[in-house]
Amino acid sequence: MPKVTFIAFDGAEQTAEVPVGENVMRGALYNGVDGIVGECGGGLSCATCHCYVDEAWVAAVGGPSSQAEEELLESAATEVRPNSRLSCQIELTGALDGLVVHTPETQY
Ligand code: FES
Repeated sequence: MPKVTFIAFDGAEQTAEVPVGENVMRGALYNGVDGIVGECGGGLSCATCHCYVDEAWVAAVGGPSSQAEEELLESAATEVRPNSRLSCQIELTGALDGLVVHTPETQY
């Protein structure tokens, strides 16, 4: 099962196993990762699953998967950066085993 490491704004790390086909937001919630809220359950309406993809993984993960994600990112509580993604829109594949994402200081 692919592993995803979440690094909090204060540097605290947590690694979770996330099944292929599942999204990063759910992987965080199932494993009690604090920095991801996922209020809308992945329905692309809350932006509380905002994360920063680690620079080493930006190419593999890619940018926003839809215009809706791109637009919703604008309402994220913290600064939107070139590596910002909504974690509910990142689906785990075997190629993303070892993925590292950074969580923002707040989702509200
Ligand atoms: S969980 Fe709401 S937009 Fe991702």
